[in-house]
Amino acid sequence: MARHLITSALPYINGIKHLGNMVGSMLPADVYARYLRQRGHEVLYICATDEHGTPAELAAKEAGLPVDVFCAQAHDAQKAVYDGFALAFDHFGRSSSAQNRDITQHFARKLHENGFIEERAIRQVYSLADERFLPDRYIVGTCPHCGYDKARGDQCENCTRVLDPTDLIDARSAISGSSALEVRETKHLFLLQSKLAGEVEAWIDANSAEWPTLASSIARKWLTEGLQDRSITRDLDWGVPVPADTWPELAAEGKVFYVWFDAPIEYIGSTREWADQDPAHRDWKSWWYEADGGEHPVRYTEFMAKDNVPFHTVMFPATQIGTREPWKRVDHVKAFNWLNYYGGKFSTSQRRGIFTDAALELLPADYWRYFLMANAPESDDTSFTWELFASSVNKDLADTLGNFVNRVLSFSRKRFGDQVPDGGPAGEAETRLGEQIAGLLAEYEGHLETLQFRKAAQALRALWSAGNSYLEEKAPWMQIKADPEAAALTLRTAMNLIHLYAVVSEPFIPTSARAVRAAFALPADDATWVTAEEARALAFVPAGTAFTVPPVLFAKITDEELAGYVERFGGEPAAAGA
Ligand code: MF3
Ligand code: ZN
Repeated sequence: MARHLITSALPYINGIKHLGNMVGSMLPADVYARYLRQRGHEVLYICATDEHGTPAELAAKEAGLPVDVFCAQAHDAQKAVYDGFALAFDHFGRSSSAQNRDITQHFARKLHENGFIEERAIRQVYSLADERFLPDRYIVGTCPHCGYDKARGDQCENCTRVLDPTDLIDARSAISGSSALEVRETKHLFLLQSKLAGEVEAWIDANSAEWPTLASSIARKWLTEGLQDRSITRDLDWGVPVPADTWPELAAEGKVFYVWFDAPIEYIGSTREWADQDPAHRDWKSWWYEADGGEHPVRYTEFMAKDNVPFHTVMFPATQIGTREPWKRVDHVKAFNWLNYYGGKFSTSQRRGIFTDAALELLPADYWRYFLMANAPESDDTSFTWELFASSVNKDLADTLGNFVNRVLSFSRKRFGDQVPDGGPAGEAETRLGEQIAGLLAEYEGHLETLQFRKAAQALRALWSAGNSYLEEKAPWMQIKADPEAAALTLRTAMNLIHLYAVVSEPFIPTSARAVRAAFALPADDATWVTAEEARALAFVPAGTAFTVPPVLFAKITDEELAGYVERFGGEPAAAGA
């Protein structure tokens, strides 16, 4: 059986992420990891904070802290939020770890041995006002390809083209805004991607068939534009140092690797951190090295937003290929479009939209998890609006699922006491229902297997609705008057649906699902999933099982609350260009 390696793009350390970041990487990865674990697969879900680079240095400066202290605190703050969202990482590491330093330096040495790294004297932008070399992303200007006026020196956010700072029109410092920029000579290491282009292309040809078009088209576009050699070092204090045994001169000058060089390697570094914490994880390397063959080949799925695609489909694979070592490469790239806020961008710098910490202060994680996945920007950008959020919570979670659970359990308790009533053998309606549930469950599984989260959420909602329709059809509150046994059968069947919902909804809404499941005092409830057979039978919870009525699962968002949220967070799209 295959083992599943899952990674989500590493969130930058410089601040709490917004919901747009969450829906495009960590949350879908968690839903997928939970699903596969529930299906009995061996899963390793790895993430970490991406801690190097200028953004970290600048954020530390702003916070008045040494950068290492800042990163340690910011890591813990992000981790606490992710715990709040019930993200079940196997490990959430730090790219500034010793493990990542070692592996990054190892990669660089190998690339050098194989002739893929070259030292070049380059002319680099120095800002007189800031008294420092400016990293690419801290030079802003107009994109020569699409005319976007806030393009960064490393990449145009608008057209996703990778840029060189000298490509920019009207370049200025993003730190001070000063255009007093000067070009100075300095030595840096270059990764000779041009030499690897053919191999990368062949690898993409052979492996991208099942990637979403979003991922493969961006990868191809990048290749068509030609793979340029990239400088992989920077003049910064904070980063993985260039190893002195290989490049004594550059090491003495204090050069560090470019953040985009060491960040993807942290997928491996974080796995090593995971291993170092527990002797039981001793075989960590089997997840990453020579992991394709054997009895338990690794299938590797990466989650990311579209701006990350070039780095994961071209640059990191080129790095891996160039080591001439058998490092595991990605099998499936799940890429997301943008989640917008009322049609405008979520913005960390302008604090526009909803941040993950604020979201959890308002409402429990499951509300967000469900909404975000049901509206994930898979085939297109999608928009968050409070109106859409409230209606989705109220209709799907509160009415369709929550109300069903409470209605069935309270009514049964009132009429039949604290145990699941009997009511005799299933009839025609139950057989029909079982067929329908088995069909919807198969659909749901299919969508999760193929990473189609919106469709999976739709199928889940259809499963919940089927219970409501059945209940309306049977109307146990009427049945009870003429034929209490018939009402008992309906309620027993409905309670079995509730248990099934609890099991299969767990990837999306783990906390609520667990609470529902705990309502039934089953002697050994070790079910992790539901077979088609079990779905048809709807008899997992036998008559006589004691149960409790859980507190209301999902509170409806009232009109007043909705108005309050809109007022507090703003409900208007940002003015163009703002
Ligand atoms: N920190 C980057 C971002 O938020 C993602 C890094 S992904 C990695 O865009 F693979 F490089 F780690
Ligand atoms: Zn552009």
